[in-house]
Amino acid sequence: MARKSINRRQLLAGLAGTLAMPSLNRLSFASLPDRPVLPIPPIRDASSGRIHLRIQEGAWSFDGKRRTPTWGFSQDYLGPVLRVRRGSELSIRYENAVSEPVAVHGHGLHVVGELDGGPQRAIAPGDSWEPVLPIVQEAATVWYHSHTHMKTGPQVYKGLAGVIIIDDDNSDSLPLPRRYGVDDIPFVVQDKDFNRDGTLSYNKLGLGRFYAAYVMVNGAIRPRVKVPRGLVRLRILNGSNGRFFNFVFTDGRPFHVVASDGGFLDEPVEVTSLFTNPGERYEILVDFSDGLATTMRSIPADRTPENYQLFDPIQGEQTIGYFEVDRNLSADSEARIPSHLNEIARLDIADAEVTRHFLMETGQPMTINGKAMDMDRIDERVKRGTVEIWELEGDLHNFHAHGCSFQVLAVNGKPPPLHMRGWKDTVITDEKSSFIVRFDYTAPDEFPFMYHCHLLEHEDMGMMGQFVVEE
Ligand code: C2O
Ligand code: CU
Ligand code: CU
Repeated sequence: MARKSINRRQLLAGLAGTLAMPSLNRLSFASLPDRPVLPIPPIRDASSGRIHLRIQEGAWSFDGKRRTPTWGFSQDYLGPVLRVRRGSELSIRYENAVSEPVAVHGHGLHVVGELDGGPQRAIAPGDSWEPVLPIVQEAATVWYHSHTHMKTGPQVYKGLAGVIIIDDDNSDSLPLPRRYGVDDIPFVVQDKDFNRDGTLSYNKLGLGRFYAAYVMVNGAIRPRVKVPRGLVRLRILNGSNGRFFNFVFTDGRPFHVVASDGGFLDEPVEVTSLFTNPGERYEILVDFSDGLATTMRSIPADRTPENYQLFDPIQGEQTIGYFEVDRNLSADSEARIPSHLNEIARLDIADAEVTRHFLMETGQPMTINGKAMDMDRIDERVKRGTVEIWELEGDLHNFHAHGCSFQVLAVNGKPPPLHMRGWKDTVITDEKSSFIVRFDYTAPDEFPFMYHCHLLEHEDMGMMGQFVVEE
């Protein structure tokens, strides 16, 4: 079958076309007189035994007013935050109470293929899956989400995603804000569209790249975020289907990035903007000791050194949330910005024995190295414990690999910015990026790991491959 390949100019022209379309069918939240307050998901501690997560239908209000059908894990929308300690086990019982198969993957977890929750682990309606996940990795913010074959996009969109917090001795010893929901806040940023009747709409735009009109955090459109007069830690997850966000505060206040996908950075990195793409996590510290309110927005990313102005016409500027200092919340007087956070062991290019190349191409289907995802084909065979370099090439994509954290060597042909020099598992690939990695967990042919574009519609349309890790 002849593949239809599309170059960047055609792609952008196509996107511009979709933008020009009048959005007749969209619900207007124009007035939004009462801004919803940021919802804080309930937290479940793994130390109190098996966590039961029921994949279920629900109804949720994104604007604080009308409700629309959604899905969630034991709740109406999204799932609880799961908290687990390094050296212990995260034991879960996923029960599928919806009418289609669902696979649930632990994104960023260092576990073997059998426990990874890829598409091979689809749970049939009425069935359940009970993985016991040994947590061997360092403190990090990771997440769980639907990974169902060709349905990840719509299922995550409906609500099948949640945050996992891993603690360890190092995270305990750091003087960081740690009061869950008060000054240590999970911050899941997504975008959605709505039909006139207020129900969720999921229409893929220009070549499967999904952008929607309403940006939300933890399921609330442009929420009010009440914070104490002090240091606040946001565990940001770009949980959107396909949108890139470039976060800033409108008063220009700087903030510190302290962690990326796989754990703490060596040292905090001060920034005034933070570019993120789907699947990525960053923990940031924002200082509110001035007592002043501010607004978080996402702005066109042309100010970043990586030069993402290509995205401007399709990203636009968005309000993420309104931060207000609440004098009823006490500040943590112990919390401060540590000068040192972690000792990251650097993987050495000189030790790399294998280099692999992944070419991501937009088209029908979406491909990697000319192939669309096939669950019956293993694309790469990796030897456990071997240091490898993975070179990525593609326009307007990102790349995520299961079963590892990696270290980024290049982002779009340039050395990674400081906040991308810690452990990562997802990286933007617009032009050429690369990372160094060692796979320490095995994955057999029956339960291989995945690598894919984390723009979920691209993944569903074929931009994914499978690899095994063998002894
Ligand atoms: Cu976040 Cu293969 O996924
Ligand atoms: Cu993953
Ligand atoms: Cu992509």
